Amino acid sequence: MRIVIAKDYEDMSARAARIVAGQIYLKPNSVLGMATGSTPLMLYKELIRVHQEVGLDFTEVTTFNLDEYLGLPKEDEQSYNYYMFHHFFNQINIKKENIYIPDGMTKDIELECKSYDRQIQKKGGIDLQVLGIGNNGHIGFNEPDIKFEATTHKVKLDEETIQANSRFFNTMEEVPRFAISMGIKTIMHAKKILLLASGENKAEVIHQALFNGITPEVPASILQLHQDVTVIVEESAAKLLKPKLQDLQRTGI
Ligand code: F6R
Repeated sequence: MRIVIAKDYEDMSARAARIVAGQIYLKPNSVLGMATGSTPLMLYKELIRVHQEVGLDFTEVTTFNLDEYLGLPKEDEQSYNYYMFHHFFNQINIKKENIYIPDGMTKDIELECKSYDRQIQKKGGIDLQVLGIGNNGHIGFNEPDIKFEATTHKVKLDEETIQANSRFFNTMEEVPRFAISMGIKTIMHAKKILLLASGENKAEVIHQALFNGITPEVPASILQLHQDVTVIVEESAAKLLKPKLQDLQRTGI
């Protein structure tokens, strides 16, 4: 695991964009796993800039999003489908048919989940998965006490996640209670993982995820077992990590 401390949100996003762009330069038909939320917003902005100014080409790229709320149509401004097109896809030259986001309005959730995993496999697996981390340690919507062996599945959102998500909705009643999410197994099959954490409110959880034991109570802790993870942590989120990193350096690890 590589842990990089970025000096601020801009720096974290620029470093992340270099990794994603590098992946596409090296393998133009890369399969990327995408996250939503506040954390990757500037990463997407930066990738759009690189596309517009330097011609980063997405025509052969395929994307799979981590998750989608159940019950929100894709036109709903709070859906992750809307988020991805609004903040990213509409401004790059990716082909629509190469974009995969779970269907939050599906009539057959089980079938939707199975075919999502099957599509990922058919495309040869995810080359690079971008992740944020929830205040409760979730990745995707894999909430605490998740089964690590889960593939894409229906999730009941945690009370803490519902509270965190409520900042985007007018009333608490509107906040979705269920979602479809890639499972931990799906995420762990990605060849490379890029985990981003920003803001002081993530300091505790990112410390737990990286330096405490591996436990379903902190789903992101499973990433300690993945062989190719880069974690970019913005300064204020890294305040509990710094002493640990110095210790590791001192012991030569
Ligand atoms: C989003 C996702 C979530 C978020 C996490 C952090 O697709 O899967 O795991 O990455 O909730 O959200 P922000 O970035 O808003 O703090």
